[in-house]
Amino acid sequence: MKHTYQDKFPENFLWGGAISANQAEGGWVDGKGLDLASCFLKGLTDAGSFGKPEEGKYHPLEKGIDFYHRFKEDVKLFGELGFKIFRTSINWSRIFPNGDDDQPNEKGLQFYDELFDELLKYGIQPLVTISHYETPYHLVEKYDSWRNRKLISFFERYCEVIFNRYKDKVKYWLTFNEINNMRRNPFYVGGILYKENENRMQAIYQASHHMFVANARAIKLCRQIIPDAKIGCMMSLSNIYPNNCDPVAVFETQDIRRRALFFPDVMIRGYYPTYIYRLWEEHDCHIEMLDEDLELIKTYTNDFLAFSYYRTTTHEAGQPYFGDTGGDIGTPNPYLETSEFGWQIDPIGFRYTLNELWDRYQIPLIPVENGLGAKDNVVDGQIQDDYRIEYLRQHLLALKEAIKDGVSIMGYTYWGPIDIISAGHLDIEKRYGFIHVDLDNKGNGTLKRTKKKSFYWYQNVIKTNGECLK
Ligand code: BG6
Repeated sequence: MKHTYQDKFPENFLWGGAISANQAEGGWVDGKGLDLASCFLKGLTDAGSFGKPEEGKYHPLEKGIDFYHRFKEDVKLFGELGFKIFRTSINWSRIFPNGDDDQPNEKGLQFYDELFDELLKYGIQPLVTISHYETPYHLVEKYDSWRNRKLISFFERYCEVIFNRYKDKVKYWLTFNEINNMRRNPFYVGGILYKENENRMQAIYQASHHMFVANARAIKLCRQIIPDAKIGCMMSLSNIYPNNCDPVAVFETQDIRRRALFFPDVMIRGYYPTYIYRLWEEHDCHIEMLDEDLELIKTYTNDFLAFSYYRTTTHEAGQPYFGDTGGDIGTPNPYLETSEFGWQIDPIGFRYTLNELWDRYQIPLIPVENGLGAKDNVVDGQIQDDYRIEYLRQHLLALKEAIKDGVSIMGYTYWGPIDIISAGHLDIEKRYGFIHVDLDNKGNGTLKRTKKKSFYWYQNVIKTNGECLK
């Protein structure tokens, strides 16, 4: 038997882009409630700034880039780019403004009907994140958010409604955006606000358990209602290396990585990995779980693994680490360049990560967030963003190498193909787009859309199915 390998992007490769509802739509109208992301007053990484937005004070997400009213114009541009797939989220609080409402909000449902119809008109498949940090705020206030088991049934009801409504339009789903950020930023993923003197690890893992059950129930429902759909999980998997060959640094780095992989370990393999029991014991964690929960988690595992990858960092033995939206933070890597927002650019790390995940899980992968956030200059109405093209070119070549390594990759959705509000900074200055939006940090601007140089470049990549990269 002759063995061959895939040496090109596959014919049906899903090229596209990704945004989230809360960072783009704006449109706090038509019965929309408040979601978690909209209650961050300084950016997602600042738990201390969590609260209801002040009336009359400009909140960047209230306007977003006005995708709520301009999506037809934007989707037309995505069509021009040649997108095969477009990832966005449904904002849970548009459908169930409080999360525990008896009836869904029809106007919210209609909005997504129109958005999905528009995408399909251009032959673009929607890839829908069910919650991108968009748990309704009311569930935090009234129920303590995901600490409470009741959240499982609120989420299940929401899934049932959207699966039934969009079953003919959406065939690719993701449950929770970056659920594994629960370990380092549980407030923005799960609405967990710490109480005084509590065992924080206990709170995090208990809430995560509830989310694992909710994920399994969503998969069960999806299989019943849309049997031809695929439903994945979504993780933050920017990577981390030891900063030298000190075995202590190497082992600690493995341990840090395992904390991130713990989440896909449960959701893809279908059981709690044995390494977690020691950690729980040592930190006095007692996670309540029912036998039926474990049965569900075992039976309903995700079909594919979607993840974000922006950069790598390095870990020094004995040092703590913490994270922001792009991954864990450590010591600088002298071999890599750094973006103006401090994230180190590592295309080989992308290939490394794709191989790592394929080796571990053996299910299809899709990087659904990758890109360069930069300050763009508009000169004579034009944006020459060669730095973005270079970032993307290197990462796509690395992805192609991973395909050649034998990794099964369904597609690639670039993060923020149109400028949106940054999650970490809560302003528009950190731009990822191929399409510029005329808006400043104070909310001034015409919102006019302009194609950057990278627009034409990515368009050509898609048109040639990656062949032009060489
Ligand atoms: C991911 C989030 O963590 O990072 C996105 O899923 C976010 O919502 C992205 O926008 C990039 O982070 P930032 O801070 O540059 O917007």
